[in-house]
Amino acid sequence: MTSLVYTINELLRYRGAVGQWSWVLHRITGLGVLLFLVLHVIDTSWAVFYPELYVRAIASYQSPLFTLGEFGLVACVVYHAYNGFRVALIDFRPKWWKHQQRAAYIVLAATAITLVPVFILMFRHVLHFYETAPEVLSLFDVLKEQLPFVAGIAVAVIAAILFSAVTGLILGDKKGSAPKSSKLERFWWSFMRISGVLIIPLVFGHLAMMHVLQGVFDITAQTTVVGTPYINESATAVEFVSSRWGYIVGGIFIWRVYDFALLVLVTIHGFNGLRYVLTDYTMRSNLMRRAAVYLTTIGAVILLVVGGAALLSTVPEGAIQEAEREVQRLYGEAENANTETEVLPLPAETTEAGSGS
Ligand code: HEM
Ligand code: HEM
Repeated sequence: MTSLVYTINELLRYRGAVGQWSWVLHRITGLGVLLFLVLHVIDTSWAVFYPELYVRAIASYQSPLFTLGEFGLVACVVYHAYNGFRVALIDFRPKWWKHQQRAAYIVLAATAITLVPVFILMFRHVLHFYETAPEVLSLFDVLKEQLPFVAGIAVAVIAAILFSAVTGLILGDKKGSAPKSSKLERFWWSFMRISGVLIIPLVFGHLAMMHVLQGVFDITAQTTVVGTPYINESATAVEFVSSRWGYIVGGIFIWRVYDFALLVLVTIHGFNGLRYVLTDYTMRSNLMRRAAVYLTTIGAVILLVVGGAALLSTVPEGAIQEAEREVQRLYGEAENANTETEVLPLPAETTEAGSGS
């Protein structure tokens, strides 16, 4: 904790050079995206396991608070991706180190240049949605939906600290021993760079489908489901996921395979990044440093199991009807306003049809 206060003090005292600010921004954006990922993977799994909860999760995504957060999320992903690419590239070629400062400015400029058109396209979807005078959840309801996640994260932190205390008691606690650099740490160093570069096309493709070609609001629109030839007849989020995960091209469930690659890479990269951050601020305490390792390892395993289980399952029969009933419960007798939405055109789909669900 004292190391965290020290870092903030030093940064403000010296007003940090661009390299130092980009390090802080890289850290904050990485942690922000990871927090979203934890909520996102758990609530996406509900499309299979608890359809009515998934309806409520997507209703939260379609509220003004999450719309604001969505712009922030996209900005975080774009900055972190470009800056991570800079770090990976310069580490790969040490003779380019002298260009660090210029490269940091290029990353900021490239982020701004990318975000202007992307934000305009995203804003068109938002305007389009609000023009139809839709019903949205109140801020109170949206915050209430997030409480189980806050409680879950708190329980995980407490469990990791207790587990670390018990390990310390059983195996003994050599105070002050710093983590040793090892082959394993060198592996993680390379993994962060290689996985980062592999994540770029996957996460940009995912965001292009969910924010640019279609918007978050189109998940519940009666329109073609992005990346498939199917129409979301019930205009429910559950049918949207079911169509994407049920779409087969050349004998392969292409969006399941895509999501699986994304899930594995971002989860391991993100939680290992969290371990770096936490161990930086817990150097002086063996108890907390061990807890950081337990927390990040258990967090990654849980997310991989939950996300993987959803990807291996099929949306059960009756789930779409259950989702329709939940929409009625949420918004009363009024039609889901977004159902009638006229959707912005999609580029022609050229893939062969598979089995929808
Ligand atoms: C989009 C492509 C991405 C690239 C190119 C990228 C690249 C990088 C690189 C090079 C590092 C530095 C590793 C080190 O210091 O050894 C890093 C750290 C990190 N990344 Fe990513 N990353 C990407 C996506 C993500 C995503 C999706 C998440 C969240 C799920 C994430 C979370 C983190 C965190 C928390 C850190 C630790 C930051 C720190 O130590 O200050 N990254 N990333
Ligand atoms: C608000 C922004 C986002 C929306 C609306 C969104 C939407 C979705 C939807 C509808 C699915 C279900 C399957 C599919 O259609 O492919 C999904 C799955 C997934 N998304 Fe996103 N996504 C967003 C941002 C992100 C980001 C930034 C990441 C990575 C950091 C990400 C990672 C994933 C993963 C790993 C899965 C598979 C989940 C599982 O296995 O249960 N998504 N997303």
